[in-house]
Amino acid sequence: MITDVNTYMASINEATQYIKTVIGNNTVPEICIVLGSGLSPLAGMCEDVLEVPYADIPGFPVSTVPGHEGKLIIGTLEGKRVFMMSGRFHYYEGYDTSECTLYVRVMSKLGVKTLYLTNAAGGLKVGMNPSDLMIITDHIPFFCESPLRGPNLDEFGDRFPDQSCIYDPEYVDKLTKIAKDNNIRIHKGVYAYTRGPQYETPAEIRALSILGTDAVGMSTVPEAIVASHCGMRIAAVSCICNFGCGIADNKLSHKEVMEVAGKASEDSCKLAKLFIKSL
Ligand code: HPA
Repeated sequence: MITDVNTYMASINEATQYIKTVIGNNTVPEICIVLGSGLSPLAGMCEDVLEVPYADIPGFPVSTVPGHEGKLIIGTLEGKRVFMMSGRFHYYEGYDTSECTLYVRVMSKLGVKTLYLTNAAGGLKVGMNPSDLMIITDHIPFFCESPLRGPNLDEFGDRFPDQSCIYDPEYVDKLTKIAKDNNIRIHKGVYAYTRGPQYETPAEIRALSILGTDAVGMSTVPEAIVASHCGMRIAAVSCICNFGCGIADNKLSHKEVMEVAGKASEDSCKLAKLFIKSL
């Protein structure tokens, strides 16, 4: 929760200023891609790359999860200037949701209009298999402390932001078409947020399923809430890495999640690239 607006805004402004200095006279991107599990090869497909470790950006938290590197990449992908967040911040690492989403506000200050969020998730929907992708059409933030809690930051958006259409319907259609045209196994559905770091129990998965969940994961929702508050257009894609706990017999492990995300990487990157190209 934002307790001290001045300190929080100072972090946002310092980070923004620092990144502007790094970009110098180059064009500032209007697209930010968050590289969830399996998407890291996308960084290698970028041209004119500048890399900035999060640790060098004043005011930025530092990502602590293995497989999430912790650097901002600035470059050109498919002819478009992009920011790539290689590594994000999770509530389960000990950050609160306002810290996890600070980068989204920095991106907004820099002029980013489109946020492409990706994540690893457990699949609940019948017919969904590990290594399938799911375009997020809506989310359930029940277990997420609102990143907007505390004084409203009026310069970004309203106190009571509408949430009727967080994930841009035009982007959902675009992603669906790209996936179909390129033989990428795709689903559309509702993503539910859990705080983690423990995976869900079978009872939680049954409950989430009854509540209308298609996929479950530990990120994305706080970021999407803040991005929608900032007025950004959002696209989000989950890589289904496992069946939700209890649906299959096996135990869940981060290793398996990372392996499946790696297997789906080619499709995840292709979808992201073609989406960026289409903008
Ligand atoms: N639950 C929560 N987060 C996840 C899962 C899951 O089953 N798989 C990958 N990230």
